[in-house]
Amino acid sequence: MSSDGIIAVCFSVFVAVLTAWAMITNEYDVTSQHGCTGECYAAWRERTGGVVQMAAAQAAALAEAGPGERGAAVYASCVACHGADGSGGVGPRLAGQSIDAISGALLQYRAGETRGAQSSLMWGQARELSDDDIANLAAFIATL
Ligand code: HEC
Repeated sequence: MSSDGIIAVCFSVFVAVLTAWAMITNEYDVTSQHGCTGECYAAWRERTGGVVQMAAAQAAALAEAGPGERGAAVYASCVACHGADGSGGVGPRLAGQSIDAISGALLQYRAGETRGAQSSLMWGQARELSDDDIANLAAFIATL
């Protein structure tokens, strides 16, 4: 047998042992993502109320949240370019700008208007925003 063949056999044995070990240790009462059935699942449902309850709780929390809080949630998609604190990066500094300045700029970008040399980077971002999103974002950003 060539050395490549020996390596291949050793590797197959290694994978088989690993798989067997994973199957043995993945007991159903262990809270892992794929092994959670039976009692484990019942306990999880008891703790969280299940996915439907979790989604309802999330929706209720969002409904109670003020514009700034909702804007903060949407702002997660802006952080990469404008910074978590709005200090800028790829995009300009947003911290310190007024609600009107922010919402005005976002409305222009959403309409596909050119404001600066890199406006095209903002068109795709703003296109997805609703009027509420823009108002909430401006309310949040003005607090930075
Ligand atoms: C891919 C990087 C990128 C992402 C993501 C991004 N921006 Fe921008 N943003 C820019 C760039 C670049 C500019 C400057 C565009 C220009 O030249 O007109 C800008 C400009 C702006 C401006 C105008 C600022 C000024 O002083 O003129 C606002 C307001 C703004 N972005 C808000 C947002 C918001 C809100 C989000 C998230 C929904 C977001 N941006 C996501 C890159 C980005």
